[in-house]
Formats: sequence, structure tokens, C-alpha cells
Amino acid sequence: MTEFKRVRKAVFPVAGLGTRFLPATKAVPKEMLTVVDRPVIQHVFDEARAAGIEHFVFVTGRNKAVIEDHFDLQIELQHTLSERGKTEALAALADAMPEAGRTSFTRQQEPLGLGHAVWCARDIIGNEPFALLLPDMVMQHEVGCLSAMVDLYGRTGGNIISTEEVPWDETHKYGVVVKGEEIDGGFHLEGMVEKPPKGTAPSNLYINGRYILQPEIFDILSSQKPGAGGEIQLTDAMLALADSQPFYGYTFTGRTFDCGSREGFIKANVAYAMWDREMAESLRPELEALLRDIKPV
Ligand code: G1P
Repeated sequence: MTEFKRVRKAVFPVAGLGTRFLPATKAVPKEMLTVVDRPVIQHVFDEARAAGIEHFVFVTGRNKAVIEDHFDLQIELQHTLSERGKTEALAALADAMPEAGRTSFTRQQEPLGLGHAVWCARDIIGNEPFALLLPDMVMQHEVGCLSAMVDLYGRTGGNIISTEEVPWDETHKYGVVVKGEEIDGGFHLEGMVEKPPKGTAPSNLYINGRYILQPEIFDILSSQKPGAGGEIQLTDAMLALADSQPFYGYTFTGRTFDCGSREGFIKANVAYAMWDREMAESLRPELEALLRDIKPV
């Protein structure tokens, strides 16, 4: 069997403004809002680490420095916790940390689109396949979305995009793919389009924010013209790359929460709380009571 070059690095584009969460995101990046007890970015980082990613590349912007602090040691805090014998809190901190030297931070200086943000990571990625995780999307899955994709990649190589179904009337908000011949765990990709105008989507399979890409995408992105919304779109560059390289869709089987929207963020919090057995026990009756008693305004 062919051995494909391992996926060792992951890119997290975290330069977005988070306007839908203002005023919460005036001083705090949207990626630092918490789903239960961990910032959104930690959930996505954990998914990447569980998939065997060794180096974590954050494409940040102004006002995002706290993300870098989050993935650093907090020596004073550790001293205080250890003096007080708070072993559980110390373990939670240690568990959230990347190994020293395993993170890189670069900046997307202007908000020119997702394709441009990914291109900003080109020097750090170099000439190897990489994973891309959009931090708005928090995913609940038994083995992790990226882990399942890495597993599929071990059999297919090439480029892989994670997809799932979305109601037809929401397709205009996303990148949408056209499904070809099925393979075990996924399918050959026949096409894709970024934010198709309402009523024109070729399918209701949307790109849900996890990718495995080959480094040739950077050459294409270097000269990629703006597409939907006047932004440099990753989807357009992937479409061009699909002319010369294999592209597969992975059929995601878990639950995705679009934490870039307020509803998705609230749903993620409830779902993750209910995934915690201890919390679920006391939460369930309270949630039921709330749903019974609170009338919509
Ligand atoms: C981006 C991608 C789109 C994908 C979406 C998932 O769009 O361009 O293809 O479906 O993320 O959230 P954005 O949400 O940045 O507009």
C-alpha cells in the first residue's frame, strides 16, 4: 500500500472579527469565548492534537494576542495553584497545553478572505500536506472529525474536505460540494461552489470546516482572484487544484456547532454540558423545567 506523507501540521485561521458577538468580542477574541469550561479554540486545538497533529499554526490578527497567551505557561498561576495543592486545576492546565516549540503565530494583516488567511501560513507549512480547522466550527464526534479524516487520508492520500448535510435554504451561507462516486467513508468530489446564490446550490452537502490539503494550494492562492463576497475564497482555489490532484469528500457523522452564530454557540454549550455525565444529571431536569416554564417573548 502507498505510504502518503503524514499530516503533521494544522492551520487555524483566527483573524475573524466576531462582529456577530459584539459587544462580547470587543476586547475578547471570539475564539476565546467558552464552550462550557474551555475556549472555543481549545476545543478545536484538542481535536487536532487527538488526530496526531504535532505543530499548530495560528493565523491571527490585531487584538488576538490573548490566544497566544492562552497556549503559553502561566507560571504565577501554576505556582499559586501548586502551593495551594490544587492538583485538579493544575492537571486541567497541563492538559490544555501544547508542547514547547510546537506552535507558530503569524498575522493576516488585512481581512481579505479565508483563502488569503490560509496563504499567510505558507512559509510555516512548507512543502507538506496540512490540516485546516475553522475554529468557528466545534464538532462532537466519538473519534474526532479530523482523526476520521486522517484515517481516510491514510487510504486515499490527496486532498479531503469534510462535508455534511444542511437544510437546502441554508446552502447560500456555505461552500457546497458535488458528490461523485462513493468510497469507504467518503466520496470522490466532482465539484464545489462557494456561497451559491439562493436556489442555485448543486447539492445540500456543505463544507463544514475541516480540510486536509496538499501544499500546492499555496501556489494557486498566490494568484487567486476575489470570488464570492469580494473575498479570496479557499473554495475557488481548491476547485482549481482539483484539476490536477485527487479531491475527496469525507462524510462527517457527528454533530457540528457553528459557534460563529449565537444560536450555534448556545447549542454547543448545552450539548457539551450534556456530554459530561456529572453535569448532565443535574442539568437535565433544570433544562426541562426551563423549557416548560419560559414562554417566548
Ligand atoms: C467558510 C468557507 C465555507 C465553509 C464555511 C464553514 O466560510 O469559505 O466554504 O462552508 O467556512 O463555516 P465563512 O464561514 O468563512 O464565510
